Amino acid sequence: MKSVNHQYFQQHLQGLDISLEPQVLETYGRDWTHLRTPAPSAVLFPRNTEQVQAIVEQATADGFALVPSGGRTGLSGGAVAADGEWVVSLEKMRAVSGVNRTESCIDVEAGVITASVQQAAEQAGLFYGVDFASAGSSQIGGNIATNAGGIRVLRYGLTRDQVLGLTAVTGAGEVLELNQGLVKNATGYDLRHLLIGSEGTLAIITAATLKLWPKPPLRDVMLLGLSDHQAVMPLFASASNGFKLSAFEFFSHACVEQVCAHAGIQPPLEQASNYYALLEFDQTDETTMLNWFEQAMDAGWIQDGVISQSNEQAQQLWAYRERISESIAPRKPYKNDIAVRIGSVPGLLEELDELVNRHYPDFEVLWYGHIGDGNLHLNILKPEQMPQQTFKSQCEQVNELVFAAVQKYQGSISAEHGVGLLKQPWLNFSRSPAEIELMRSIKRQFDPAGLLNPGKLL
Ligand code: MLT
Ligand code: ZN
Repeated sequence: MKSVNHQYFQQHLQGLDISLEPQVLETYGRDWTHLRTPAPSAVLFPRNTEQVQAIVEQATADGFALVPSGGRTGLSGGAVAADGEWVVSLEKMRAVSGVNRTESCIDVEAGVITASVQQAAEQAGLFYGVDFASAGSSQIGGNIATNAGGIRVLRYGLTRDQVLGLTAVTGAGEVLELNQGLVKNATGYDLRHLLIGSEGTLAIITAATLKLWPKPPLRDVMLLGLSDHQAVMPLFASASNGFKLSAFEFFSHACVEQVCAHAGIQPPLEQASNYYALLEFDQTDETTMLNWFEQAMDAGWIQDGVISQSNEQAQQLWAYRERISESIAPRKPYKNDIAVRIGSVPGLLEELDELVNRHYPDFEVLWYGHIGDGNLHLNILKPEQMPQQTFKSQCEQVNELVFAAVQKYQGSISAEHGVGLLKQPWLNFSRSPAEIELMRSIKRQFDPAGLLNPGKLL
């Protein structure tokens, strides 16, 4: 590993904020996975695109790898720096332009926190369509680099669907201004979409133009208790026809237990169910809602349910879903983030249920996910006495079977968390050899020296 010191940076990257403090190196070298021991050699804080370009040029000259870094809330190790890299934190690039009401969009720098975009949109009477539990700390650049999904994909799509324009610095040091906020642009390959979801392996995103939506009408939230997981898809089909859904989430009772213990709250329903669905939809009249509820009861899909009567109650119901991840984080769960087409969800659920019962009889298994868009999070908790290494290798063995089932349905081994370091060995379950080879050659074009986020994704 080459070493660098303050003198080096003063000489080559004058005026740039940098840190070589051990504590800072440790903090910025890891993400929420805590996968590897952080060991970057420097953390750099550019303030504009030109400084990012200068960093790329200097790193190329001296052969340093670069790890682009946002809020480091990732769950696949995409922002881990464990091998003497320079971490390029975008957190000092937080400029937000005023909302453009004529075009319903906003210009932001990459380090802007997701929640700040949501707030800016709201203040202008508009709406940013992407939301998830880590919205308070994740950054727009990271969201774009991982094509973040979340809880409202059903209505507004993924981060990809919000990006009207992108500024980025490639691994070759070129500044690209992509699509410039245009709605229509039929001039060949849309490189913007190549960078979205590229996990910092092709370019460092420095700014974006994001689409905003009309302010949504008032919404209700319904939390329903399901007798078994087979009820979830007929329930979804019926709810999609009955309501204007903006979210349809799913979780098992084990998740409710974890959230209640962590947050010190009571379960949502008097009678516990094995599974739950959380629906968010545009407010509708009470008769429609009650009729639908009764039909769902008669069909045997649901056992019980509660409907929010105020915004505050809606937030309280959301907590049972949104706080699952933070509740189980201290147990260092083995996480799966898989997706299939919605029509294949029942078949996949059936197979996974059987697999899990056969192979994980002693493990606590938590099911949750954004089932309305085919995305399921399967989390396995380590038995307390079991050594971490034994747990990990057992999970990895079962992983092969889980991913084989996903492959059978032509699904994705990473729906919204990205590939990073964690899912990289299994990329071939979702991508063909020809696709992977094309991805490699694209990487070579954007990043000829292979400096950007090495070891991630490919
Ligand atoms: C969620 O859906 O809660 C997030 O993707 C985080 C997680 O899977 O733990
Ligand atoms: Zn999720």
